[in-house]
Parts: sequence; structure tokens; C-alpha cells
Amino acid sequence: MLEEINELSLKLQNIQIQNSQELEDFRLTFLSKKGHVNRLFEAFRNISPEIKKEVGKPLNVFKKDVETLFEELKEKIENQSDNNNIDIDATLSVYINQPGSIHPIKAVENRLIEIFNSLGFDLSEGPEIEDDWHNFGALNFDEDHPARDMQDTFFIEKDVLRTHTSSVQIREMLKQKPPLRLIMPGRVYRNEAVSSRSNCFFHQLEGLYIDEGVTFADLKQTLYYFVQQFFGEGTEVRFRSSYFPFTEPSAEMDIWVGTNTPDDIRLTKGTGWLEVLGCGMVHPNVLKNCDIDTEKYSGFAFGMGLDRMTMLKYGISDIRDMFLNDIRLLSQFNGL
Ligand code: DAH
Repeated sequence: MLEEINELSLKLQNIQIQNSQELEDFRLTFLSKKGHVNRLFEAFRNISPEIKKEVGKPLNVFKKDVETLFEELKEKIENQSDNNNIDIDATLSVYINQPGSIHPIKAVENRLIEIFNSLGFDLSEGPEIEDDWHNFGALNFDEDHPARDMQDTFFIEKDVLRTHTSSVQIREMLKQKPPLRLIMPGRVYRNEAVSSRSNCFFHQLEGLYIDEGVTFADLKQTLYYFVQQFFGEGTEVRFRSSYFPFTEPSAEMDIWVGTNTPDDIRLTKGTGWLEVLGCGMVHPNVLKNCDIDTEKYSGFAFGMGLDRMTMLKYGISDIRDMFLNDIRLLSQFNGL
């Protein structure tokens, strides 16, 4: 018996196993019910005590060796199949879990919020479906003002899709007591012909500052600071006098873009100047409509369009491209 154990031990040392079938053969030969280990242990029971003494230890060592070897071989085969034996189709395209990205207009909005926050302006928002009074009446639009015309405004029964974010000024002035320093971004709607430059919906950011002794100089300096921060130091601006029912005096502000590229020319209608916003000193009628004491308080307001600013910043030549939800455009803004 000892001889057999020695022989089998020798065999063990030379065992080579390449795959799981051979591993199973090894297990059957050595470790199964009818395998060598079991067979030898059964035979061991029937041998004389003297031989038992002689054989006992080597038999146990042999059993241990078989078990250890089996575990080693098993691990080797399992690792092998992890790496090599998987059925791989290398021609399959890889599924990449693409994270979403910030929309370029949102990125511009976030930057504006950051800039105005640094000047102490808080963030506020209002509803996109407005009533006539918040969108027009309280903002000092006459009953027959052309902006109320069907051509410009989308009507929803008695309400309207807000045509500008100025409506949020009214909501905030009714909600809070001055001093007020707010920015109010959001989407607005107008019934306009859609083209590469204009859309039936777009995005604005409204600003409002009401306090004692606020002047037009404060307005100009605030906007000048914003332009330098957003468009870069040294960016030229110009103010043109203008008219809005809710401000007096009113102005529009342009920034100098130049006419270097076809996109610049299209965006500035060939003038090199891009109109960025409307602004002015809040009209006393508006303050009165919101129960603000016009003897004590004055303020300025401004409203800027984000879509053209975004197009300029990122070199997007058609406003409609930004709303196609085309991953080829959107993925260019990963990491904004
Ligand atoms: N609401 C104006 C528009 O949509 C923009 C605007 C002009 C907003 C002057 C203002 C302002 O707050 O003071 O064209």
C-alpha cells in the first residue's frame, strides 16, 4: 500500500491540467467516491495494525497533497477562463454610458448668476404662464400697446405665455419690501417667424435693483462690470436711448463684437455691435403698481437675451441648432 501511495504521489507531481474537463477528470480519479483517496482510506480500514502505523501518516499527507493540488489547479483554470476563454466578439461596438452635459444656454445662465451673485444680486424665478396684468398691465403697458397684439403674444385662454421675464419683477416687488437686488432668469415666448437668428421661444435674464438713491450711474457701472466679467476685460459697450413702457429713461446696451467672421456679421446684422440688453430706471407707475413709495425709493432694471450671447460665446451660427437635442452638438459642451 505504501508503494502505491508513493507511486500516486509521484504521479501527482507530474500532473498537467489545461482545461476544466481535465480538472474534472483529476477530481474523479483522485477525489470522488471511487477515487484513489477514498479507495485507499477504505483499504486502510482492513489492514493490520502494524501496517496501519506505517501507512497512516503518508496516507494523510497524500490526501492533503491531493486536496491542495486540486484547489491550486481549480484556481488556475478559473483565472484562465476569466481571461482567455470568454467568447468575445471584438467587432461589437462598446456601450459607453454617456453622462449628460450642461446645455450651453444653461452654462451661460450659470455664469451670469455667478457674476451677479458676486455683486449681491439674489436669484429668483417666476411662472412661464402669466396673467395679462403681471406681463403687461403692471409694467405700464397701455391697453392698446402693440406688444399685446396677437402677432407677438401666445395667448392661453385668459393668460399668456410670458413675453419677457420683466413679469417676475412685479411678482417680487409685491412679495418683498425694498431694498431689492435680484436676477430672474427664464424662458420667454413670442409669436415670431423662426429663423437662424430668432425663435418663438428664447431665454432672458432680468435684473432689478430697488433702494434709496439708486441712479442711472449705478445701472451703467453694474452693466459695465458684467460685460467685462462675461465678455472679457476691455470689451467695448455703448448705450443707445430707447423706449420701454416700464422704464424712464430707457436704454439699450450693445457690445462690440466686430465683423471678422461671417457669424459675427450675421449676428450683428453687419454693424459689429451686438444688442445684449434693454435697461432703464424703473418707471414710477411700475413702483406704484407694486405699492413702493416713489418718494423714497428708485431703482433700475435690465433684461438681457441669453440665446444670442450663447451663440456668440460658443460660435453657434443657427439659434435653432441649440434646441434640436442633437447629441453631436450637445456633447461638445461636456464638462462645462
Ligand atoms: N423686457 C424687455 C424685452 O423683453 C427687456 C427689458 C428692457 C427689461 C428694459 C428690463 C428693462 O428690465 O429695464 O425686450
